[in-house]
Amino acid sequence: MRIYKAANYNEMSRMAANILSAQVILKPASVLGLATGSTPLGTYKQLIEWYEKGDIDFSEVTSINLDEYIGLSSTHEQSYHHFMHENFFDHINIKPGNIHLPDGTATDLEKECKDYDALISDTGGIDLQLLGIGTDGHIGFNEPSDAFEPLTHVVNLTDSTIKSNTRFFTDEEDVPKSAITVGIKTIMQAKKILMIVNGKNKADILKEALYGCITPALPASILQLHPDFTVIGDEEAFSSL
Ligand code: PGA
Repeated sequence: MRIYKAANYNEMSRMAANILSAQVILKPASVLGLATGSTPLGTYKQLIEWYEKGDIDFSEVTSINLDEYIGLSSTHEQSYHHFMHENFFDHINIKPGNIHLPDGTATDLEKECKDYDALISDTGGIDLQLLGIGTDGHIGFNEPSDAFEPLTHVVNLTDSTIKSNTRFFTDEEDVPKSAITVGIKTIMQAKKILMIVNGKNKADILKEALYGCITPALPASILQLHPDFTVIGDEEAFSSL
């Protein structure tokens, strides 16, 4: 595990963007595992800036997103499809056919999960997985549980996740209660994992995830076992360490 401390959110984002950018420069046809949420926004913004300057080319990149809400169409403002297009894909030259997210409106969700796993294996696997961490320790939408779920699955979101996501919706009632997420095995099979974390509200869970017991009750704790795991956090995120 490699830990890098950034002075603030902007420095964390720039460091993360540097690692993603190095990945794409060294392997233009990289498969990037991507994440949504407020944490990676600055990273995407920085990558867009470097793309506009001509420093990075995403034309051969394939993206695999971690998760999507069930019941939200790809055009819904709070869907992760929409988030990714608005905050990243629409501003770079990734090919539309190389962009992948689970379909939260699929009528056969079980099949959608299986198809998503098949798609990930068809790409040859994820080269670099970008992750945030939830205040409950989730990665993707792998919520605290009694067992690690290996593959893509449907998950009921915890109260803490629903509460935390309420900030993006006008009403708590509108926040989806379930999602499709890639599983822990898929995340752990990524060749490299890069976790970014900012803010004081993540400090205790981050400490527990990095140095506590490895347990499905804190899904991010499994990352301690990954052979190429990098964490970049700002000072506040590391304030409990
Ligand atoms: P956040 O979410 O970046 O919005 O804090 C992180 C996560 O839930 O993985």
